[in-house]
Amino acid sequence: MNSLQNKVAVITGANSGIGLATAKLFLAQGAKVVLSGRRAEALQEVAKELQGEFITVTADVANAADNKKLIDQTVNKYGKIDILFLNAGVAPPTPLSDVTEDHYNYIFDINVKGPILAVKEALPHINDGGTIIFTNSIVTQRGFENLGIYSASKGALRAYQRVLTAEVKSRGIRVNSIAPGPIDTPIYSKMGLPEEVVEEMGKGFAQQVPLGRFGTSEEIANTALFLASDKASFINGIELEVDGGLSQI
Ligand SMILES: NC(=O)c1ccc[n+]([C@@H]2O[C@H](COP(=O)([O-])OP(=O)(O)OC[C@H]3O[C@@H](n4cnc5c(N)ncnc54)[C@H](OP(=O)(O)O)[C@@H]3O)[C@@H](O)[C@H]2O)c1
Repeated sequence: MNSLQNKVAVITGANSGIGLATAKLFLAQGAKVVLSGRRAEALQEVAKELQGEFITVTADVANAADNKKLIDQTVNKYGKIDILFLNAGVAPPTPLSDVTEDHYNYIFDINVKGPILAVKEALPHINDGGTIIFTNSIVTQRGFENLGIYSASKGALRAYQRVLTAEVKSRGIRVNSIAPGPIDTPIYSKMGLPEEVVEEMGKGFAQQVPLGRFGTSEEIANTALFLASDKASFINGIELEVDGGLSQI
C-alpha cells in the first residue's frame, strides 16, 4: 500500500506526537516528507528512527522568515508540494483572569499566525489538486477551564480555513481540518504543570470521552492519511472530530 507514492508532504510540529506519527505513516505510504520543528536537535533525534525519503527543516512557525525558509527549502529539494499539514501548536493553560499579553501572543503567534503565513508562502508551490490539512481541536466546541486563549486560537484558525477553502477553489485544492479530542502526546508535559496535576487532568478528560480513553497519535495520523489521499477526493472544507465522541455529548 503506497497511497502517497511520489507525493511531497510538508508537516509542521513533526518532531513529536501527532506530527511525528503522521510523518512516519506518510513515509511508509511512499511520500517524500519534509519534517519541520523549532528544535534542530529534536529533529536530528527523530531522523535517526525514520525510513524513507525525507528532509528536516528547523523553523519556528511563529517567525515569518522561518515559514518562508521552510517552503523555500521544500521547493529547492522537491520542487512542489502536494500535502501541507499544518499541525504545530501549543496549549499552555491559564485562568482567564491571569491572561497576559505575552501568553496571548505566544499562543496566537504559533497556533494562528504560523499556519496563516505558511499557507501564504506555500500556495504558489502547491500543485493544483493538492491538499492542505490543519490540526484544530474540539476545544472550539466545548469549554474547558484554563484553555481560553488556546480555544480562541483554534477558533480563529477554523474561521480562516473556511475563507481559504473558498479562495483556493479554482485550483481544486482541498482544505480540511482534524479536530482531535484528548490524544496521548507530549503536549501535556509541556504545559508547565506539575506531573500529578497533568495526571489528574488526564483522568478527568478520559472519563468524559464516551470511549473512555485518550486517543493515540497514530489514530490522528490515520485520519490525516485519509484526508490527504484520493479516498477523500470529495471531502473539502470540513473539520473532522477524532475524539471518541467527546464533542458530541
Ligand atoms: N494532544 C492533544 O490532546 C491535542 C488535542 C487537540 C489538538 N491538538 C493539537 O495537535 C497538534 C499537535 O500537538 P501534539 O498533541 O502532537 O503535541 P506535541 O507532541 O507537543 O507536538 C506539537 C509540535 O508542535 C511543535 N511546535 C510548537 N511550537 C512550535 C513553533 N513555534 N514552531 C515550530 N514547531 C512548534 C512542537 O515542538 P516542540 O517539541 O519543540 O515543543 C511539536 O513538535 C497541536 O496543534 C495541538 O494543538 C492536540
